[in-house]
Amino acid sequence: MAFPESFLQELKARNDITEIVSSYVSLKRRGRNMVGLCPFHSEKTPSFNIYTENGSFYCFGCGVGGDVISFIMKIENLDYVEAVKFLAQRAGMELPDSGYDDSMSKLRRRVFEANREAARFYYATLISPKGAKGLEYFRGRCLSDKTIRRFGLGFADDDWSSLCNHLKQKGFSENEIVAANLGVKRRNGNGIYDRFTNRVIFPIIDVRGNVIAFGGRIMTDEKPKYLNTSDTPVFKKSANLFSLNNAKSSGSRTLILCEGYMDVIAVNQAGFQNAVATLGTALTVEQALLMKRYADEVIICYDADEAGQKATARAIPILRNAGLDIRVLTVPNGKDPDEFIRSHGADGATAFKLLIDKSGNDIEYRLNKLKSKYNVELADGKVSFLKDASKVIATISSPIERDVYISKLSSELSVDKNAIVKQVNSIARRNGKEEYKKEITNIQKNLSRQTDKIDTEHHKKPRSSSAEESLVVFLINNPDYAKIISDAVSPDKFQNTLMRRYYTYVLDRINNGLDPLTNIAADFTSDEASYLYRIMSRSVKSASTESAMYEYINVINEESQKLSNKDIADMSSEQINDYLKKIRKNKQ
Ligand code: UTP
Ligand code: MN
Repeated sequence: MAFPESFLQELKARNDITEIVSSYVSLKRRGRNMVGLCPFHSEKTPSFNIYTENGSFYCFGCGVGGDVISFIMKIENLDYVEAVKFLAQRAGMELPDSGYDDSMSKLRRRVFEANREAARFYYATLISPKGAKGLEYFRGRCLSDKTIRRFGLGFADDDWSSLCNHLKQKGFSENEIVAANLGVKRRNGNGIYDRFTNRVIFPIIDVRGNVIAFGGRIMTDEKPKYLNTSDTPVFKKSANLFSLNNAKSSGSRTLILCEGYMDVIAVNQAGFQNAVATLGTALTVEQALLMKRYADEVIICYDADEAGQKATARAIPILRNAGLDIRVLTVPNGKDPDEFIRSHGADGATAFKLLIDKSGNDIEYRLNKLKSKYNVELADGKVSFLKDASKVIATISSPIERDVYISKLSSELSVDKNAIVKQVNSIARRNGKEEYKKEITNIQKNLSRQTDKIDTEHHKKPRSSSAEESLVVFLINNPDYAKIISDAVSPDKFQNTLMRRYYTYVLDRINNGLDPLTNIAADFTSDEASYLYRIMSRSVKSASTESAMYEYINVINEESQKLSNKDIADMSSEQINDYLKKIRKNKQ
């Protein structure tokens, strides 16, 4: 079941793909198309293309492609029906009454509702007599009632069924509760029990205000210290951040990146709303790209211990590649931000502000780290330091910024500036070449079939597959030829299963007077749809002539008559004779 064709067409017409995409990605014109840095993987040279002509996009770097609906699905993390609603709302269009399959969005909606109800329940428990232990814990950590309310903190008692019972009473099914990971199925298959027990609770809320998950901290030294919601239909741990909802509404284009829940909350209580944290995993590329949507600069504010410093070193290139400016804040005396703020009592906010103001950018941070490794008073140490420092400076792309650090080093260490410039330039040239090579290899890999997981059959029969692909693309671009093509090639002549599916689908749509691609995001998986846009974006003009079309038809017909070695081995001599006759006849 799908949305009516006319509705989808209007939806697409009213949501211009260039306009939509440019609210997430900055685009430049290249010929008839637009290009930009791909929001779905991190890259330095743009390989993300918008084809205004047919309202599609395709990234040559990571192989993602589709139409405006697929774009919204991916970037807003919505399912098909939700993405259509999102675009309809944006364009001020009424949704058709029914007739579309929204079972997945229904489940997602139920999971959101169950989460919201759970958050209310945990909060109510916290401020009830049952939650005394939890409230005491939070107060012991210096959280004010206002902070507790603002974050909607809560408490899960140790009853093992309180929340599940409450949710059932509110009309949620066991399936929905389990899908939300609020309850867990008993091993013996008999019913469900609460996922969180005897823990203080931190709700995780997305930028749209939906409760998407929870973290729960044990109040003793037992392990695991924190338990988080596993991935659910509405939550992917590696692609979300704690408190991004607050940070987004802070109005600041700077984010303070902390290690944990309590740090974010303490920093907020000290007056800085723009703090976020990853959720028990090392920073991912997805999270960096998410931050880039709301910020230009990130202040890394990890613990001062060794683990925190390692995490800082790992986070720097990820954030930089996402196009974010970076500062690194160092918390003194091995403390984490929460402990630091608390240790200053009423002056916590002022003290933390000083740390922020003092925080240097990532280059200064890395140079200082290096400097502390060597004794620069000795010639040996100076040389080693300069070598390493040049590597750091070589990663800077702005020539002015590079010059600043080189001048600084040269005067600090009394070394000739030109010598450092030479060293830095030669490293930068090498790096630049390698990086360029890496991106090119990536694109080539994507263009060749080495990593194809979607079309697994191409390499087995490259000749017929290529012709089938080209014919599908030709048909999409030239629906007027549908009759000629379908008379000449029946779908069973296609040897590649995926191409046959595209072919049957496109023919069927054209024969019913429909645009071939309007509904593609609903009728194929997102990988399959991306793949179709991939072969479309690869096709060249010369492949789109009538004579090229006849060539594809010939190849497909010819290849469809060839038998595999195994087929031939299984044939009787009579069958082989028949087969040869048939081929000869065709060749005349
Ligand atoms: P930390 O161990 O540094 O805890 O973990 P913390 O944030 O300082 O917490 P408090 O102050 O002891 O309460 C940092 C973050 O790593 C994740 C959590 O998100 C935590 O906030 N984590 C840690 C887990 O997911 N599971 C764990 O068992 C421990
Ligand atoms: Mn802590």
